[in-house]
Amino acid sequence: MPSVKKVLVSDAVDEQCVQLLKSGGIDVTCKFGLSVEELKKEIPAYDGLVVRSDTKVTEEILTCASRLSVVGRAGTGVDNIDLKAATKRGVLVLNTPGGNSTSACELTCSLITCLARHVPQGCAALKDGKWARKQYSGTELEGKTLAILGLGRIGREVAKRMQSFGMKTVGFDPMVSAEDALSFNVQSLSLEEIWPIADYITVHTPLIPQTRNLINNAVLSKCKKGVKIVNVARGGIISEEDLLTALNDGRCGGAALDVFCEEPPKSEASWNLIKHPKAIVTPHLGASTKEAQVRVAVEIAEMFISLNEVGAGAWLNGV
Ligand code: NAD
Ligand code: MLT
Repeated sequence: MPSVKKVLVSDAVDEQCVQLLKSGGIDVTCKFGLSVEELKKEIPAYDGLVVRSDTKVTEEILTCASRLSVVGRAGTGVDNIDLKAATKRGVLVLNTPGGNSTSACELTCSLITCLARHVPQGCAALKDGKWARKQYSGTELEGKTLAILGLGRIGREVAKRMQSFGMKTVGFDPMVSAEDALSFNVQSLSLEEIWPIADYITVHTPLIPQTRNLINNAVLSKCKKGVKIVNVARGGIISEEDLLTALNDGRCGGAALDVFCEEPPKSEASWNLIKHPKAIVTPHLGASTKEAQVRVAVEIAEMFISLNEVGAGAWLNGV
């Protein structure tokens, strides 16, 4: 792999990324919010590209990236990068899984508590001059069942924190054994066992064919009436159309969403869900904390520098 001399940072990552890359002798250019055409013109000049989730590194972009050897994602999910096209061109794709897990976990927990107590709705009503104590009376979390789908880095941390509220935690993850799940006090169950017992369901899986529309109309009909749904993972794991129907007919008692099929939302259907009175929404803020952004920025810069120091082959073999 050729050395990484010129890097384009095309999404807003913490300044420490740029400083570190420069201190490692790398020439860095920051250009945010480029259109596809602008990025296609810009990319041929670079060996490396650093992105968050806004830049879509598609086959079309990669085709123009004649000297690109590495794409670094300052974050977890690499679904904005065409991995197949990158592999075909010998472009290495790096990410920083774990650097923002605590932040995503903490947002999930705060959304669960907001769903129980209608905090955003009560706040908005009061700011609007309404003292709506009766309308926004809530429910306790103690004794309720939280189902966690995906027991990886974030899912298991959510479990540990919500147990301190007295919630019973159950979960499903095809890659996590029942013994492993029990080690963090999650009872491993099948999805069919989970649907009728969960008071809250939170998803923490990647968006892959097996998880697309994992929560859909049929599933929502099998759930407890008034089940509350949380998604701080990826838009598309929950069918937005089916969720809106279930919010309207009462099968779903509330939804808290940080991620959406369209980001930023454009269609009327997206806005209908976002504006639903029982939906609590945030604009993909899971990883948006000072601590997480510094961690992922530093991690990705250090990886680029170590690629230059030891070469990709040695680096990938863990030297
Ligand atoms: P992870 O890889 O550590 O865990 C994901 C888990 O999902 C794995 O254990 C995997 O076995 C499991 N899984 C896969 N298919 C499944 C299925 N069909 N059913 C149930 N479980 C399944 O990932 P993570 O770091 O915990 O991240 C989880 C999700 O959160 C990812 O989609 C990631 O992109 C997203 N994320 C979002 C934000 C945000 O800003 N909102 C921040 C960080 C991560
Ligand atoms: C991620 O996958 O890391 C998140 O989507 C956070 C982000 O970088 O916005």
